[in-house]
Amino acid sequence: MTAAMRMRPARRSVMLGAGLAIGSGLAGIPLGGAAAPTEQEIVAAPRSFSLTGNAAAVTAGWGYADAFPPPTLRVKLGDTLRVRLINRLPEHTSIHWHGIRLPNAMDGVPYLTQPPVEPGAEFVYEFRPPDAGTFWYHPHCNSIEQIGRGLMGVLVVENPDDPPFDADIVCLYRDWRFDQAGNFTALSTDEGAGRAGTMGNFHTVNGVNAPVIDVPAGGLVRLRILNLDSARVITATLAEQPAWVIAIDGNPIAPVAFDQWQMGPAMRLDLALRAPDREGAIFTLVNTFLAEPLILASFRAAGPAKTGRSDGPPALPASPIPRPDLGNAEALPFSFSASSATALDPQDQLPDLSALQSALGTNEPVADFLCRPQRIFWAINQRPWPGQTGDRIPPPLATLTRGRTYIFELINTTPHTHPIHLHGHTFLVIESNKRTVMPYHTDTVLIHTKERVKIAFVADNPGDWMLHCHIIEHQDTGMMGYVRVA
Ligand code: C2O
Ligand code: CU
Repeated sequence: MTAAMRMRPARRSVMLGAGLAIGSGLAGIPLGGAAAPTEQEIVAAPRSFSLTGNAAAVTAGWGYADAFPPPTLRVKLGDTLRVRLINRLPEHTSIHWHGIRLPNAMDGVPYLTQPPVEPGAEFVYEFRPPDAGTFWYHPHCNSIEQIGRGLMGVLVVENPDDPPFDADIVCLYRDWRFDQAGNFTALSTDEGAGRAGTMGNFHTVNGVNAPVIDVPAGGLVRLRILNLDSARVITATLAEQPAWVIAIDGNPIAPVAFDQWQMGPAMRLDLALRAPDREGAIFTLVNTFLAEPLILASFRAAGPAKTGRSDGPPALPASPIPRPDLGNAEALPFSFSASSATALDPQDQLPDLSALQSALGTNEPVADFLCRPQRIFWAINQRPWPGQTGDRIPPPLATLTRGRTYIFELINTTPHTHPIHLHGHTFLVIESNKRTVMPYHTDTVLIHTKERVKIAFVADNPGDWMLHCHIIEHQDTGMMGYVRVA
């Protein structure tokens, strides 16, 4: 069968490429004479997590560490992060470093920026994050399964010039889809994938259902809230506790009083607050997006009250994001819509999955298939993402001139909300047809029904950069593409 024959040379070249990529990755990073970074190891493997709290579940998941979540990766601004990914999964994987402006070869998109890391293989990621903040990492292929089963972790880039906090607390929110025995139920359904996403039923912060987290009484606390759910949009609210917003999606802002903030999947929010003085006092993080507001986590003031404090909002130093030249920008529209089969560009059509599978038989590795959607519901500019394989990468949605400013108009023609994410660049949200926007930097912006949002950025990072919805089922069923900066 012709398709099967085409797959074989592709797989051989992938294996050869894996060795080369490690070498060129190292050579491509300017080390600036600094001491060699310490290498951290991340092993992606099947693991049993016990997720506890008011409700408890043990489940056979996939993870980067024995417990969920894995320890937060921390690197100092200016230092190089070096991570060896070891793949003990039954299928290929990679790590994408969400929100980091890094060299394209380190971006972790199988076939597009690196060969997939096959079962038993390794890949070394090495880069120096240019911006401090709250980021995260996850695979970028077969994501419904890989992220759904637990492959994710938090990456904090610490700025030594940040004001001192008495506590720095990461709150990783995500749901899981379990039955009563703690076994996964279907991670995706057609009803979910074709609408707002398949929602989980077991809510966790840091792997615990409704945890109680101690904060130093009277202390200045930094809360790093991450919505790492695959589908659910939350409205983060603090009950009984004033706070300031100090960063959005990792990017510092001039502190503003916090009221509430809508966070789609992949979005982050850094808050600063003064914990209550009275030992035992409680405040809560609540999701008020739901008709029935849900407490995600509680915080309890612990220990003797801190004294000698100053009460101004702690401002973080700004990140060195290039300033867009709006006067000389080129505007490009990107429409996010349902797909219509007739709109599939024949050039983009990859061989039929079931034909390939039966041609290869059950003994053949099926890893090449996992970067391809098995169902198509969505599209960008009428083009549903057909997937990528070793011998076939679809063309980019647009080619951008390196160094030029672009204004992307992100147009949501669907009745659903989409968190739209661009790799490799941090953009400025400048305008919406539906709400007043105070311009801010981000890598993921929530676009509501019938909304048109303009974002601006300098295309200063060469390479192929994914542009997609971060509702993972939308991403995996067509709402994905990439732009090329050349
Ligand atoms: Cu958080 Cu393309 O990903
Ligand atoms: Cu979406």
